[in-house]
Amino acid sequence: MTVRLRTVVFPVAGLGTRFLPATKAVPKELLPIMDRPLIQWAADEAIAAGADTLVFVVNRNKRAINDHFDMAFELEARLESSGKTEHLRMVRETLPAHVRPVFVLQPEARGLGHAVLCARPAVASGPFGIILPDDFILNRDGPGALAQMAQVQAEHGGSVIAVEPVEWKDTSRYGIVSGTPVDSQLMKIDSIVEKPRPDVAPSNLGVVGRYVLDHRIFDLLENTKPGAGGEIQLTDAIAALLTEQDAFAYRFDGVRYDCGNKLGFVQATLRCALDDEEIGADLRRTLEGWLRAAGPEPASARKASDGVATQR
Ligand code: UTP
Repeated sequence: MTVRLRTVVFPVAGLGTRFLPATKAVPKELLPIMDRPLIQWAADEAIAAGADTLVFVVNRNKRAINDHFDMAFELEARLESSGKTEHLRMVRETLPAHVRPVFVLQPEARGLGHAVLCARPAVASGPFGIILPDDFILNRDGPGALAQMAQVQAEHGGSVIAVEPVEWKDTSRYGIVSGTPVDSQLMKIDSIVEKPRPDVAPSNLGVVGRYVLDHRIFDLLENTKPGAGGEIQLTDAIAALLTEQDAFAYRFDGVRYDCGNKLGFVQATLRCALDDEEIGADLRRTLEGWLRAAGPEPASARKASDGVATQR
């Protein structure tokens, strides 16, 4: 059975400080991986999970995200008159006709939980999805992470949160969960805590930017006080949700790249470029040549591996 997740929320009203000065005038979500901005990859993942309502939570500096999904009359007319049909298709297909974008304002960056709460008027009852576009997840051999989670939610009920093991020293950068295993990819969550220090973290399973949440989360967010960093934390509202209903931590199929930091962003770009039919083979030759010329890496420099978050 194919499961649909009708509404997906994109909280994109953060300041993007880790990518300054690139994000001074350009929203982080419009930085491209290859020829598609992060927000487009995220929208495509949501649509593949069945979404027909995409709710973007923006601030006054993120108007360009609106423009990206709007019609571009002049550009389209020019492409049409010059017969550039392939380019015209690309410009028109930022959103398919059946998909409705909704833009909601978060007037002040008061945290991820507050951003999600701002989306409430645009979210219909029932479970809904959340994607943080800078957590870029590629599953080259199967459905996207959110589609997988929609399926899990349909089978088990409750809410579903994407997790992956993070390095113990990095627990203070993530929401961390612990619980009871259901199978090799799924765990019923017993506790969730925002940014614990490694010595008090209940596990090293870190929450990453995909959620399928029960609508009840909005009531709980209304009553959530500022937590870690003085922000209204989604994690704290999920902790309250756990006292009422089941929530599951899901280890998705696919690789996550933390595109909120430079290393993850470059890794995602290289991964997609190497897979690209047009430039992949040339890029591989270039990289191999560079690596040969550079010689072996000193052992002391070995630390990061492909797709594993190193900063947050
Ligand atoms: P981050 O912690 O990655 O913050 O937010 P950021 O502002 O995007 O980036 P840095 O850390 O300053 O470089 C996680 C997600 O929550 C959204 C962000 O846009 C991002 O998608 N967010 C965060 C909001 O929408 N509003 C907020 O008040 C805070």
